[in-house]
Amino acid sequence: MPTWTMSSTHLVVGRQTGGRPRSRDWSSEVTRRGGKVVTPHGNPRSSDFLSYTSTTTTTSTKMLARSAARVLAAPQTRLFSASAAHRTKVAVLGAGGGIGQPLSLLLKSDPLVTSLSLYDIRGAPGVAADVSHVDTGSEVQGYAADQLDQALEGVKVVVIPAGVPRKPGMTRDDLFNTNASIVRDLASAVGRVAPDAHILVISNPVNSTVPIVAATLEKAGVFDPRRVFGVTTLDVVRAARFLAGVVGATPAETAVTVVGGHSGPTIVPLLSQTKLGKDVKGEVYDKLVHRIQYGGDEVVKAKDGAGSATLSMAYAGAKFTNTLLQGLNGEKGVVAPTFVKSPLFVDQGIDFFSSNVELGPNGVEKIHPLGELSAEEEKLLAACLPELKKNIEKGKAFVA
Ligand SMILES: NC(=O)c1ccc[n+]([C@@H]2O[C@H](COP(=O)([O-])OP(=O)(O)OC[C@H]3O[C@@H](n4cnc5c(N)ncnc54)[C@H](O)[C@@H]3O)[C@@H](O)[C@H]2O)c1
Repeated sequence: MPTWTMSSTHLVVGRQTGGRPRSRDWSSEVTRRGGKVVTPHGNPRSSDFLSYTSTTTTTSTKMLARSAARVLAAPQTRLFSASAAHRTKVAVLGAGGGIGQPLSLLLKSDPLVTSLSLYDIRGAPGVAADVSHVDTGSEVQGYAADQLDQALEGVKVVVIPAGVPRKPGMTRDDLFNTNASIVRDLASAVGRVAPDAHILVISNPVNSTVPIVAATLEKAGVFDPRRVFGVTTLDVVRAARFLAGVVGATPAETAVTVVGGHSGPTIVPLLSQTKLGKDVKGEVYDKLVHRIQYGGDEVVKAKDGAGSATLSMAYAGAKFTNTLLQGLNGEKGVVAPTFVKSPLFVDQGIDFFSSNVELGPNGVEKIHPLGELSAEEEKLLAACLPELKKNIEKGKAFVA
């Protein structure tokens, strides 16, 4: 079956034979030896894993996952991997919006998506009719405002960009009053109709909406911490792009792990752990970190009242969805930063946190700790934690 993937420079057309993809393209820097993914520059820095099932991991598994962690944190030259045989029904809730429309188009182009279910309180059937003409294999169905339950039937992955975006001068927290109830009601429907689905939350404020989804599912008795994700991929995408600009490299060479949450001071880029970012210091460092933390504001300001990031967010949302689908399909060593229920800072009363997470057939398989931080990053983390705690508690209180 023909597949196509996007390259940063050109469209690549491939053909799967005998149910297997032609080749897995991690990036130009990566080669495969003996079934293991390796980087040409040796192993990345050390880290251990936190797992829902066990904290013990064999040395070889650790080494593989460490290498893969670095590879998957890397900006890929292609948006999608198509190497797994399984295919999946994906729903977009909020498909008629600024993010929802291009996200639906990109997911229509993802070879791992079999079927696309598009729902919005406005305009989803029109978006579905449009997107359905794209000549890829997946089926597309649009659902009107009163057809939420039908939209969720048989769905394995639900991506939620429903809700209002920011206007100039607003913080993400300012969206809470409107978006909290939208996200709660959608999560409640997922819990009722597709309780085994994986939920990817894009709607802001992510630091609060993810705890809202978790608490809503918990109330319904169907919460599984391995299946609820806050999409922080845009911060990772921005960090790679902005660092590349500063050091004069390509984003494929400037992968940055971004941890914490998804708003201003809660966004903590770990530049010291990158080869090209670790020597960025002083004013250049401060400006770079500020740009990664507040990059969203650049877009809000430039759009001048017409919304926030939609196209780059759709790209990031499609990228994370594809990464999760790789894990669900049994690919090994699939690791990406995402905001999940996490044990990392539970001792400080913070039970959701974004860090590198290994994704597998059940969703979250292992949660990576942060590794070694520079003095600057310790300070960023210290500023992140109290704000994140407040945001999480606000989300929980809304559902309680
Ligand atoms: N996670 C991130 O990195 C990130 C980045 C950018 C934007 N966002 C957030 O994504 C959200 C969407 O942004 P946008 O620019 O697409 O906004 P938008 O207003 O263009 O689109 C939102 C869509 O949601 C729909 N909607 C509202 N209530 C709904 C409901 N109950 N059920 C289904 N659909 C519903 C609207 O009809 C609209 O089509 C915002 O909250 C924004 O802040 C997140």
